[in-house]
Amino acid sequence: DDVVARFEIHSTDTPLPADERAAAIASPKFGTVFTDHMARVTWTSGEGWTDRRVEKYGPLLLDPASAVLHYGQEIFEGLKAYRHHDGSVWAFRPEANAARFARSAERLALPVLPAEDFIGAAAALVRTDVEWVPDGEEASLYLRPFMYASEAFLGVRPSLEAEFLVIASPVGPYFAGGVKPVAIWVAQDFHRAGAGGTGAAKCGGNYAASLLPQTQAHEKGCEQVCFLDASTNTAIEELGGMNVFFVRADGSVETPELTGSILEGVTRSSIITLLTDRGHEVVERRILLSEVREGLADGSYAEVFACGTAAVITPIGRLAGEDFDLTIADGSAGSVTMTIRGELTDIQNGRAADRHGWMTRL
Ligand code: COI
Repeated sequence: DDVVARFEIHSTDTPLPADERAAAIASPKFGTVFTDHMARVTWTSGEGWTDRRVEKYGPLLLDPASAVLHYGQEIFEGLKAYRHHDGSVWAFRPEANAARFARSAERLALPVLPAEDFIGAAAALVRTDVEWVPDGEEASLYLRPFMYASEAFLGVRPSLEAEFLVIASPVGPYFAGGVKPVAIWVAQDFHRAGAGGTGAAKCGGNYAASLLPQTQAHEKGCEQVCFLDASTNTAIEELGGMNVFFVRADGSVETPELTGSILEGVTRSSIITLLTDRGHEVVERRILLSEVREGLADGSYAEVFACGTAAVITPIGRLAGEDFDLTIADGSAGSVTMTIRGELTDIQNGRAADRHGWMTRL
């Protein structure tokens, strides 16, 4: 409560009428509809973080010389708020997002926002726009905290001014088809990150780098692109915006180890915990594309799934590349995938005990 109390609430005079809000919540295409307000904190090198506030959602005033527009000094996060049966609203592991946001800030030479302000901003916004939190089965309020370099200065050095905001969007499933298996295209000519680069940071530039290969994946009939490591072009790293897991026929599960060029997914780490709880052996290691191709062909790999805050857990039914095209689990959702998905979403939606203390009431 005291972290929220630091935010001044300036309510909009023109909230969306209730019937239009209900319509917007009912059929949201991912990330297209936003709530009435946004949370905001301003930073300058002289004053530090000031002006914690919630204000009307709307366009930002940006100097054309703002550093973010020239050198891409920007980071973001993604987390969700869920409405439980009793009407209360909860966030999933927001302190993990706050910690990763701080690591991203350090890598992008942006100021570190204290975790209290990260969580306080999210909570202040959700409380102001609480009517926007959906209560449907696969529905939630997606929160998008972000920070950008706002100083008007064309020299290449860390900005002396930054803005932190949180916006919120009611969402259903990330993929247009809902929770059904997706196809993945393995990019063999492009990489998203290299050793010593920004791959582990959640910065806009990583996603910009994924867009051209992601477009090529679409042209091949696939929903997402899969990246290989930049130094050898042989080991699987992650998808365009999600981590990836492989379930072996013997029930053990593998996921690419964190190499510094892979995003440290909050969903990824939660899944490792839940699988381990259920007695699955979980191995984080360097996984070669060649091993996966052979294992899918001979049946030693049984299931593959993608995971992220936006995608939750999405089964992968097909893995294709320039010279291969493999169907996984006959193109259907595997049982380990769907069991762990059910367990995770039950915790998030308050249907199962929160035994790891992952939920924070907003
Ligand atoms: C997430 O929130 O899961 C992301 O990584 C961002 C994007 C794929 C929507």
